[in-house]
Amino acid sequence: MSALENIDKTRLPRHIAIIMDGNGRWAKEKGEDRLYGHMHGVESVRNIVEGAAELGVNYLTLYAFSTENWERPEYEVVGLMELLVNTIRQEVESLNKNNIRLHVIGDMSMLPEYARNELEEALEMTAKNTGLNLIMALSYSGRWELLNAVKNIANEVKKGRLNVEAIDQDTLQKFLCTSQFPDPELMIRTSGEYRISNFLLYQLAYAELYFTPVRWPDFRKEDLYQAILDYQSRERRFGKTSDQVLT
Ligand code: IPE
Ligand code: IPE
Ligand code: MG
Repeated sequence: MSALENIDKTRLPRHIAIIMDGNGRWAKEKGEDRLYGHMHGVESVRNIVEGAAELGVNYLTLYAFSTENWERPEYEVVGLMELLVNTIRQEVESLNKNNIRLHVIGDMSMLPEYARNELEEALEMTAKNTGLNLIMALSYSGRWELLNAVKNIANEVKKGRLNVEAIDQDTLQKFLCTSQFPDPELMIRTSGEYRISNFLLYQLAYAELYFTPVRWPDFRKEDLYQAILDYQSRERRFGKTSDQVLT
């Protein structure tokens, strides 16, 4: 029986964020090169995007490349950029067919120009879609994002367009890359690591965290359903008491 049958469709997380981890180890365990793992990771991306869209999840954020990942060996970085560009080129048509809108968050200035151009084209081509919002975190890190927000806010103050006293949480929210998206309710990390690795540090404040030993290239819809079921068994208290939440 699929876990899908037990999911309460009226209580789905609106936004799911995933740290897609374990490609390298998955490949090594098969005696293959790390890039082989990344190539197979693309299959999981396809499957999970389809699964999220079928369920009616509104936002899916996938952590594909962190600002720290630039420090990896050059052949892996180059291989990942090529894989990214080729995948986007191949997938735009299917994104449009499924009414999926692509977004990117991260430091785009770090990307090679050909990758940035390809991405911009894909963003434009899917901009009118109204179904699932697929947010790729690319050259992204939470600390980079917060630093960027602080600088931009300081600039607004300097130019006299913003009063320090008027800065509140809504102001900060507006200066994050995720200003158009609600915070994730569920964050999944694959491959048995129990850390955040600089992902959505501000936005995950009250997310439910789900960790699975499954390596990303093996992660499929059924694993996503399991994570959602687990999420639905949690009591989200937001600092209140259990009694307060239940009444
Ligand atoms: C996740 O898999 C993909 C990226 C970070 C780009 P890894 O490449 O981190 O795989 P492991 O964690 O080394 O197994
Ligand atoms: C986090 O995975 C980044 C992505 C999945 C894109 P890493 O493999 O880079 O994280 P660490 O090094 O294990 O913390
Ligand atoms: Mg990793």
